[in-house]
Amino acid sequence: MSENLSELLGRKGLESNFFDELGNLARPDGTPDNEEMARLADAFLVGKANAYGTASFYDFLKPENKGKRVYVCNGTACECAGTQPAVLEKLKSEFKPEEIGHMTCLGRCHENAAFHFRGKNYSGNAITSLGKIVQDPNSIALDRYHVEASEKAILTEPFSDLNTFYAPWKKVLESNPEAVLEEIKTSNLRGRGGAGFPIGLKLEFCKKAQSAVKFIICNADEGDPGAYSDRYLLEQQPHSVLFGMLVSGFVTGAHHGILYIRAEYPEAVTISQDAIDELNNSGLAGKNILGSGYDFEFKIIQAQGSYICGEETALINSIEGQRPEVRVRPPYPAQKGLFNKPTVVNNVETLAALHFIMRQGGGAWKEIGTEKSSGTKLVCLDSYFNRPGVYEVVMGTPMTHVVEQLGGGFRSPVKALQIGGPLGGVVPIEKLDTLTLDFESFASGGFLLGHASVVSIPEDYPMIRYIQHLFDFAAYESCGKCFPCRLGTQRGYEMATKAIDGGYTIDRELFNDLLTTLTEGSLCAHGGGIPLPVKNIMQYFNAELKSYFN
Ligand SMILES: Cc1cc2nc3c(=O)[nH]c(=O)nc-3n(C[C@H](O)[C@H](O)[C@H](O)COP(=O)(O)O)c2cc1C
Ligand code: SF4
Repeated sequence: MSENLSELLGRKGLESNFFDELGNLARPDGTPDNEEMARLADAFLVGKANAYGTASFYDFLKPENKGKRVYVCNGTACECAGTQPAVLEKLKSEFKPEEIGHMTCLGRCHENAAFHFRGKNYSGNAITSLGKIVQDPNSIALDRYHVEASEKAILTEPFSDLNTFYAPWKKVLESNPEAVLEEIKTSNLRGRGGAGFPIGLKLEFCKKAQSAVKFIICNADEGDPGAYSDRYLLEQQPHSVLFGMLVSGFVTGAHHGILYIRAEYPEAVTISQDAIDELNNSGLAGKNILGSGYDFEFKIIQAQGSYICGEETALINSIEGQRPEVRVRPPYPAQKGLFNKPTVVNNVETLAALHFIMRQGGGAWKEIGTEKSSGTKLVCLDSYFNRPGVYEVVMGTPMTHVVEQLGGGFRSPVKALQIGGPLGGVVPIEKLDTLTLDFESFASGGFLLGHASVVSIPEDYPMIRYIQHLFDFAAYESCGKCFPCRLGTQRGYEMATKAIDGGYTIDRELFNDLLTTLTEGSLCAHGGGIPLPVKNIMQYFNAELKSYFN
């Protein structure tokens, strides 16, 4: 990535953002007009090719998207539930085929049959009221799902009121960054976005970096099919997330906070913006907060449809308006991130956990859960459970408790669960009783906790089709920066497709070579991570797959 481009695109600060402007230009038509895009490029002193290179990357900016009016969810949970062919058929009664696009995923995994129309998401039996929706998109209310804490309600504790909730923020402002950082480090809170990196260390790196300008980014690009816990927090607990960003800013000396929220969550954008306005109006954010001399300004950037933008360096490129390819590390974002300035990127849920730590102390968080995986974790259960929803679970809880007691078991037979998104492991049902919900148990079992979304793979869903679906997703979402992933995910998809179509058996040695190349040669955890679920499937469902391999 070009450092000069980062400087040029950052010249106007956050008030006038190139990527935001591209999104605005695309709104009327689904893609920016070429002449308007050229004018925008001129205004930022970048080339037209840079603007086109960016716009052509995203689902909701690229020219192929022109004229799309409605989008069908093609995420894994909707795919496994088999609801989408009927949704598509029904949509064709109101829209021309060329007006129908796809989105992955709308985070409606608890009831499926999901689609998006005019900036709103619908799921469950909403499709049966399609005519009404087309007349009035507000005719159907927000979706509902179970929200429950298995023991301790921390992230799911109902919001009190602004004054009570922000009392710990007043204490933080009277304290000092060093003391606040110590409290966070004591908690041993680990990132909830997938990698499990301690937030305290990341904040410390950024705090030490010398720069008058620093950024706090909330990664709200929750693209893992099966996950909707970040959506829950943004829509129902937005102040927890904003609180975490304020505290992170205070610790590091950053004065700008950006929420990068996926376009597939339109309601999360408006609800979070309302919460930001509330904070600014009450003096809890903005300039000279509560007379402390500390400033912190929030800004929401709406993403434009790309899974890889959840990867933190692709996300930074995205906000800058560059093509969102993954960056080579080092330098790490905490040293050189957005517009070349020190930047901390954290997941929504990680940030939301800071409220409890500021209120009760880092030691109180550390006491919950296991030694290495402290605190609670949100888990999303899909529509195959009798009680789908978002559950707050103490780290270390047996998975059988999550599935049977919280989820109420399955409504129809399920043979495996993919836990932790498309890069997470595929756990056969008979292995569930060997796992507890924490980073270590999953890693030692050969799986990955990730963001802890749960997608059920029903008994009658062919595993070869699941492999095909995984590679299809990985190939479509690859940023294309490195060969192993750009070519390898496509080859994996082709092999699975040919095997399904018949007359072709996959050479096991060649396939294993492909998986090794992806694991060892990929630049980031996208290409590097996709072999894990595929290997799990090959190990545990060998008998089912036998006829497809030589
Ligand atoms: C392909 C890919 C997609 C990712 N998507 C997300 C995402 O949607 N949300 C997220 O918080 N982290 C995502 N991550 C992880 C981020 O790169 C980063 O580790 C995370 O935002 C850091 O926050 P945390 O430490 O609070 O977890 C993704 C990583 C990869 C490789
Ligand atoms: S592994 Fe895939 S997504 Fe990651 S940098 Fe390489 S091409 Fe991009």
